[in-house]
Amino acid sequence: MNKEFRDLSSDNNFIIENNARHIWHPMADPKVSEKNLPIIISKSDGVHIYDIDGKKYLDCAASLWNVNAGHNRPEIKQAIVDQLDKLAYYNTFGNATNPPSIALSTLMMEMLAPEDMSKVLFSSGGSDAVEGALKISRQYWKLRGQPEKTKFFSLKQAYHGVHFGGMSVSGGIPWRRAYEPLLPGCFQIDSPYLYRNTYTEDAEELGAICAANLAREIEHQGPGTVAAFIAEPVLGAGGMIVPPANFWPLIREVCDKYDVLLIADEVVTGFGRTGSMFGSRHWGVKPDIMCLAKGINSGYIPLGATAVNERVVEAWEKEDPLAPLMHGYTYSGHPLACAAAWANLNIVANEDLPGNAGTVGAYFLELLGELTQFPTVGDVRGVGLMLAVEFVKDKATKEPFPPFDPYLMEIQKICRDEGAFIRIQANKLILSPPLIFTKANADQTIDTLRIALEKSKVN
Ligand SMILES: Cc1ncc(COP(=O)(O)O)c(C=O)c1O
Repeated sequence: MNKEFRDLSSDNNFIIENNARHIWHPMADPKVSEKNLPIIISKSDGVHIYDIDGKKYLDCAASLWNVNAGHNRPEIKQAIVDQLDKLAYYNTFGNATNPPSIALSTLMMEMLAPEDMSKVLFSSGGSDAVEGALKISRQYWKLRGQPEKTKFFSLKQAYHGVHFGGMSVSGGIPWRRAYEPLLPGCFQIDSPYLYRNTYTEDAEELGAICAANLAREIEHQGPGTVAAFIAEPVLGAGGMIVPPANFWPLIREVCDKYDVLLIADEVVTGFGRTGSMFGSRHWGVKPDIMCLAKGINSGYIPLGATAVNERVVEAWEKEDPLAPLMHGYTYSGHPLACAAAWANLNIVANEDLPGNAGTVGAYFLELLGELTQFPTVGDVRGVGLMLAVEFVKDKATKEPFPPFDPYLMEIQKICRDEGAFIRIQANKLILSPPLIFTKANADQTIDTLRIALEKSKVN
């Protein structure tokens, strides 16, 4: 036991020696983490991160799609410190609250006025925000006198976090298998995945087919049993899938027709990443519930939020024993997290980060397009600063590289050696940099990717 409580975190030798010794790393096999030690990031600034040996990298992932305003922003740090001097923490359960959470709720409702959002339930992250949305949906129908509307529909490539509800509406098998059985009453339909689908190569036709599939499945289950449809405006972790432009408007129509709530999981797309302030706005659609996290305060302190529109709120206006919201977290509306969000959202608005994501993203995507000359680059796609390269063994058959294939791991390693911190997920290279990324940063990333593609050898 370290009785002296000396600051071990700044003792580099100690940190390096103990890397992955006691931590189980998320989304990793503990045995593998002990062998391939995680890179220790110990400093960051702007679009750059530094490892413990002082090596500098361009952060092409904005950590986990969340450091949108960039690292080490003085405005956000100052807001946290100022708040720390006043009130480090007090909860928002029942009849207590704190000023930063009230201030942030008003700012958010102003920002979400075009989506007609009216209230927000704060939480500690994205999975929490999704869990809140799913529970609110079920409670909504009970309050509306339709207690049998409990089922959820979602997309096969969806990722909605790791809690039991979110995992049950996520589509990817690797996220679910080890934890089954999941929540009953969750069903997935095909994603509008243009590069890989069995229907058509025409985007608009695909959008219509996928929306029609949802209608058919709701009818099959019985609309009187379906609570909500949940989806990401642009699918992120499941493969960076940009739906055709008609998909979301058609989904809204289907939800209206069958009286099903529409939940937009904007954990990644919220606050500018797609080039619009919100992903749903990008598609011109107003959801009933929106899940927010990540970009809300650029990851400086954990925070999530579930926003609901007036239609949802109205169900709570009557007297009912089921009306109390029996949901929430100790850290819902944490003052430091909300103060950080306030400062962050000012940066997002004043520096027009959505606009920058749109402009730099379009430029970046054009450059990525040139990489399709490489035989393993099957597809490049994205919108705003949500971009991906999909690697295939064979362009004609689109046979994907298996996850952790040595070829993909080599690409990741070379990029990192060359100073670009990129993430490979399954057979995709994910690019989700801070929204302050410049065209010069995009050029550097592309140059690095070219080097990696030229050097890496398929086994
Ligand atoms: C769309 C989406 N929803 C939910 C989550 C879960 O968020 P968190 O990891 O903060 O719990 C993520 C995380 O990447 C996500 O991409």
